[in-house]
Amino acid sequence: MTVIDSPLPDKEREIAGSALQATLVDLLDLSLVAKQAHWNLYGPRFRSIHLQLDEVVTTARDYADVVAERAAALGVSPDGRTTTITATSGVPAFAPGWTKDVDAVEALVRAFAAVIGRVRERIEETGPADAVTQDLLIGLTADLEKQSWMFQAENRR
Ligand SMILES: [Fe+2]
Repeated sequence: MTVIDSPLPDKEREIAGSALQATLVDLLDLSLVAKQAHWNLYGPRFRSIHLQLDEVVTTARDYADVVAERAAALGVSPDGRTTTITATSGVPAFAPGWTKDVDAVEALVRAFAAVIGRVRERIEETGPADAVTQDLLIGLTADLEKQSWMFQAENRR
């Protein structure tokens, strides 16, 4: 059923909508992983990483909203349900239980690498279909890569 008239033709709407939906799921899962790490963290670097993880949560949640609402504006129903996240997220699984500071940083470095790689592919795909969606994904990637840099810098010895 079409509720919202799309500004895009069918094929372009499909390409942009798929890229936005996949990005929405990755961002929602990234926000959950970062909160899991935020709550379960321990170790000598607790304070700084605890706070840094909430910056990831804020970025991921804010962009999830922007991405979902771009999909809606294109006439594509966004799907942020937990079952959809579980089935389609590209974020690596996060180990349960208390998490040592170095392990949390390592997990976030891996999570960022996975999400950035996937979003960069979508930048390529969306260019010809919808420059506005591509622009949104480019801005998102810049923020993700900034935070990835900070976690990588934390990780070097
Ligand atoms: Fe907190």
